[in-house]
Amino acid sequence: MYARFLTLLCLAFVSSAPTLDNGLARTPPMGWNSWNHFHCNVSAQLIRETADAMAASGMRDAGYQYVVIDDCWQVARDRAGRLVADSARFPGGMKPLADYVHSKGLKFGIYTDAGRRTCQGRPGTYGSEEMDARTFAEWGVDYVKEDWCNSEGLEAPTQYAKFGDALAKAGRPIVFSICEWGSNQPWDWGPHTGNLWRTTGDIGDRWASMIAILDLSSQHGHAARPGAWNDPDMLEVGNGGMTDDEYRAHFSLWAIMAAPLMAGNDLRTMPAATRDMLTNKEVIAVDQDSIGVQGMLVQEPAQDLQVWSKPLADGSRAVVLLNRSALQTVIAASWRAIGLLGSARVRDLWTHTDVGVMTDRFSATVSAHGVVMVRITPVTGSGEEDE
Ligand code: GLA
Repeated sequence: MYARFLTLLCLAFVSSAPTLDNGLARTPPMGWNSWNHFHCNVSAQLIRETADAMAASGMRDAGYQYVVIDDCWQVARDRAGRLVADSARFPGGMKPLADYVHSKGLKFGIYTDAGRRTCQGRPGTYGSEEMDARTFAEWGVDYVKEDWCNSEGLEAPTQYAKFGDALAKAGRPIVFSICEWGSNQPWDWGPHTGNLWRTTGDIGDRWASMIAILDLSSQHGHAARPGAWNDPDMLEVGNGGMTDDEYRAHFSLWAIMAAPLMAGNDLRTMPAATRDMLTNKEVIAVDQDSIGVQGMLVQEPAQDLQVWSKPLADGSRAVVLLNRSALQTVIAASWRAIGLLGSARVRDLWTHTDVGVMTDRFSATVSAHGVVMVRITPVTGSGEEDE
C-alpha cells in the first residue's frame, strides 16, 4: 500500500493537467453554507446574524471566510434578464448584504445552477452565464456554487467551462465551486475549470453517509492540489444527527482529505463543544497545509480499523486512526505505512498534548465510531524513509 501511496503522491505533484489559474483557494476554502441546516429558509437576517456569529465565535480567526447562501434566494429574472432575489427575505437585494458580510472581514458567496432551474425550482443560469457572472460580480460576490439539477441533455464539462469563463471575465476574483455530485468524473476536468468540485451526492447527518462519502471521495486524491480540491460536501458538525465522537471523526477526516471546510450548522446558537470542534486550530492546520496534498488510506490493520495519512509541508505527517467499528479498540500506525523512518515526535491534535517520541509505530485506543488524530514529526537526524 505504501508504494501506491508514493505513486499517488508523485502524481499529485507532476500531474500535467493544467489547473485553473485564478489565484484563489490555494488552500481548501473555509466558510459556512446555509443548506445543511436551513434548506430553503434563508434570509438577509440569517446571513447577517451568521456573519456576526462567525466573527464573535472565533471562527473567522480560525480561518473561516466565506458566508454562502445556498438555494432559494432567487425568485425570477427581471426584464433585463438579471436574477432577482426574494424581496421579502432579502429586502434591498444582495449588494447591501454582501457589503455587510465584507464589513465583518468576511467574504460573500451565492448559489446557482448550471441547468434551467435550481434543485428547488428557482431560475437557473443556463443561457445566462455571462449575465449572471456580471451580476454576481456587481453585487460583490466572492464565491459561487453552481449546482446540476434540471440539466437534461447538457454536458457538464461544457456548461461548467462556460460559466467558469464568464466568471473569469466578470472583473472580480470569484471562487468557483462545481457541484455536479461526481456524476461526470469532475476530478478529470474540474481542476482546470473550477476551484473545487463535489465528488458525491449530498451528505446526510449520519455516520453511514459520512463514511460512504469518505470512501468515494478518497479515490480521487491525485486530482487535488493548491487551487483545485475534491469536495466531499459541507460539514454536518453540530447538526445533531451524530455523536460528538462521530463529529470529531467527520471533521478530522475532512481535514486529512484536504477538503473544503464549510460549516453547515446554526452558528448563532451552537454550543461551546461544537464551536471548539470547528475551531480546532491544529486540525485546521492539517487541512490548510501549504503543499495541498490530499491524505489517503495507508493501512488497514483489521476490518473497520484504518490509518489515514497526509504529508505536510514541514516533512511531518498528519495521521488519523479511524475506528469504523462499534467497539472501542487499539489501532496502530507504522512508520513504514506513513513513510517515515526513525524517531518521531507524536502530538495529539484533539487533546493538544505531546504524546512522546516513538521509533517505529504509534498506537492508541480509539473509541467506537471515533478517531485519534496526531501529527508525527521526524526528530532531527532521522528522516523520511528512502525507498
Ligand atoms: C443539491 C446540492 C446541495 C444543495 C441543494 C439545494 O442537492 O447538491 O448541496 O445545494 O441542491 O437545492
